[in-house]
Amino acid sequence: MEIHPDIERVLVTPEQIQARVSELAQQIDHDYAAVDRLYIVGILKGAFIFLADLTRQLRIPHVVDFMALSSYGRTTTSGAVRILMDLREPVEGQHVLVVEDIVDTGHTLDYLLHILNNRKPASLRTCVLVRKERQNNGVKVDYLGFEIPDVWVVGYGLDYADRFRTLPYVAELKRQVYSK
Ligand code: PRP
Repeated sequence: MEIHPDIERVLVTPEQIQARVSELAQQIDHDYAAVDRLYIVGILKGAFIFLADLTRQLRIPHVVDFMALSSYGRTTTSGAVRILMDLREPVEGQHVLVVEDIVDTGHTLDYLLHILNNRKPASLRTCVLVRKERQNNGVKVDYLGFEIPDVWVVGYGLDYADRFRTLPYVAELKRQVYSK
């Protein structure tokens, strides 16, 4: 596999990702077997690749919708999260599964769950590709792909300044790229 020159090391290979995505899809199929319409909420931009692969492996009936959020001051707990684009439907009474690319501090997902819970869904769960091994706020992740080291990661939806999202693996970025 050709590795981008700005990459320090690959943390999760494309093969590992695809195998885990299949397992997650099977688990979700199993857990929602009795649900006639799962409302899947992808969080833009980062989740779009994970979401595309995951949903194409699901066998249960589902619909896909998106929210776009922007976070400020990620390093502070007071950082606000703004909704840039909201869902097309009210989610009251619906079974909602949020799909995210990463939990870092957990702030974004925590805020989002708070918003969605207020809309009174029938159920609300989360599916996250990677979670950093660091202190976070203990936000609930029901389906997790991988735990990864607390380094700057890109690929498979994750970006640095909107670059590297379409790399087929999750990888650590070289320090010189983000400390320029
Ligand atoms: C990233 C990621 C999560 C959030 C995680 O979004 O997609 O939404 O940060 O960080 P946290 O756990 O510390 O809150 P970002 O704001 O970079 O937007 P993007 O998905 O459009 O790249």
